[in-house]
Formats: sequence, structure tokens, C-alpha cells
Amino acid sequence: MISKDINLAIKILEQDGIIGLPTETVYGLAARMTSELGIKKIFELKNRPLTNPLIVHLAKAEDLLLVAENIPPMALTLAESFWPGPLTLIFKKAKTISPLITANQETVAVRMPNHPMALKLINQLGEPIVAPSANPYMAISSTTADHVENYFGNKLPLVLDGGPCKKGIESTIIGFEENYIVLYRHGSITKEMIEAKTNCKVFFHEKFQNKVQTPGMHFKHYAPKTPLILTDNIIESFEIYKEKKVGLLTFKSPILDHRNQYMLSTEGSLEVAASNLYSQLIAIDKKGYDFILVEKLPEEGIGISINDRLKRASNKL
Ligand code: TXA
Ligand code: MG
Repeated sequence: MISKDINLAIKILEQDGIIGLPTETVYGLAARMTSELGIKKIFELKNRPLTNPLIVHLAKAEDLLLVAENIPPMALTLAESFWPGPLTLIFKKAKTISPLITANQETVAVRMPNHPMALKLINQLGEPIVAPSANPYMAISSTTADHVENYFGNKLPLVLDGGPCKKGIESTIIGFEENYIVLYRHGSITKEMIEAKTNCKVFFHEKFQNKVQTPGMHFKHYAPKTPLILTDNIIESFEIYKEKKVGLLTFKSPILDHRNQYMLSTEGSLEVAASNLYSQLIAIDKKGYDFILVEKLPEEGIGISINDRLKRASNKL
């Protein structure tokens, strides 16, 4: 059921249930941080392996002390600058945090979502929640309440409707080492924004040997059922494939096929493109194309994060 009833959502969470929750990035599937039963329901509903840890969501920065230890001063600077917002930080976990949340690792991932409904819900509930993205394992994340409802139907008692997600891609994830920061997942908060606030170098984890495991960063992820081809040159690729039934997803390129072309941002804004990405992919996936031809975005700022999602969506298992 889709509803705006926060009190009902709280009642469900208090009884160890789970709900669909709007955030500024994507919708989450939420349980109380201390509800083992609720957390297990999340993994079951998503069909997600228990080896893939969940992000804790707070409504007040002080609650960080409930979940994490050894918080570096740099992390507080970043929390002050970007929370509430799409930045997830990885810390040593507090002893009380359930190993179900952290997949038995010694670290915990934490963020404060920037959505009034999510903040109100967590505040009123009086304890943090855990929430992965509200999609079956490896499928495209949800950016509207309808997406969540379409994925899970009556297996989920309630989806709180907070409108379409403004950011549209999952949060940036970083962790702290002695003298540098490791970027585990690209998002709307870019490497440059983090370096500017901390004066500390940020390295992307695939280029850097590191002990933290981020199992959710599977090389295939965020994928539609229709095969997806990512191209640098949409005009040339369209020439090659145009005898086939192709759906085109472009940034702001000229119209090649007005009946089968979807644009991420006619005015060429990367922010707008990010916020449209998943709803367009979900819509195109329903059209029965042989494949989806997607134009790579400029490799700058959030364009890097969008291209990262598109690369994973185009990988074969
Ligand atoms: O924007 C977001 O972060 C959304 C909204 C709902 O907040 N949540 C989200 O959660 O994207 P999820 O579970 O779909 O992705 C979280 C990623 C996974 O790849 C997981 O492996 C990684 O974060 N992760 C969680 N805890 C971790 C930890 N302690 N160490 C390393 N990676 C962790
Ligand atoms: Mg996810």
C-alpha cells in the first residue's frame, strides 16, 4: 500500500515489520536498527545475500556515537558539510551493532538522508533505521513509491510516498584510512567536493588495495532485463543497430528516432540526468526492445557516477 501515513509506518516498524522509505537518493527498504527480525525480512524480500551489509540511517549527527567508534575528525567535518545528504561514511562499528547489519565485518556504514519524511520518521521512532535500496537484488533502484510497489506488491505492507527522489542515484560511500580517504561508490557528492572540504586525497577503491569489503559493488548491478549497450558515439552505434528494435537513452543529443528515444536532460544538466536515470531505465525496460542503446555522459562530476551505474548495468554476469 502506498501512503503518506508516518504514524502507521512507525507502528509497522515497532512491530518488527519493514516499509518502503523515501530518501533524496533512492527509496529504501527500512527496518529498526535493533530489530533482528525486521532486518532478516529486508534480506529475504530483496533476495539479498547476508554477506552484503546495510547502511544505518540517522536523523541526528549525535547518534553517530551509538553506532560507530574511532570517528576521525575529518569525518565530522564531512558530516557537518554534507549531512543531511547523499554521503555514506564507513567507521569501525560500535560493539552493540548487530552483525546482521554489517555482514560480520568490523565496519559500519552510516548516513543521514536529506528527506523530510525520512528524518521525521527516524526522529519520531526514536532510533536509527537500516535501509538498503528498495529493489530486488541487482535490479534497478526505485526512485518513486510506484517503483517500490511494482517490485514488491503486497509483500510490503507500506510504502511511504515522498514523491520522486531528487538526486536519483545512490549515496557516495567513503571510508577513512590514516592519511587518505577511500571512495567505495560514486554518487552525487563528488571526489572533488570531498577533497575540497578535507584537504585530503581521495582514491577510488578499485585502484587501491584495501581491506574493507563492499560486496554490493558487484560489477553487474542496477541492470534492466533488456540488454544494455553503452556507447561513446550514439549516432554511429544507432547506424549499426537501427534495423533492430532499439530503445535509445541519450543525454541531450539530437533526435535520432523520436518514437524510441528517451532523453536524460534536454537542457544538458548532469543533476537532472541523474534524477531521471532510473525511472527512464525502468520505463524503457517495459517496452520490449531487443536492447537499449545508451549514450555515455561526459566523464565529469556526477557524470562519472552516472557512467559508473551504466557500466555496471551493461555488464554481463
Ligand atoms: O543512497 C543510498 O545509500 C541508499 C538509500 C536508501 O539510503 N541505500 C543504498 O543501500 O544504496 P544499498 O544497500 O543498496 O547499498 C549500500 C552499499 C552496498 O554496496 C553495501 O555492500 C555497502 O553499501 N556497504 C554497506 N555497509 C558497508 C560496510 N560496512 N563496509 C563496506 N561497504 C558497505
Ligand atoms: Mg542497492
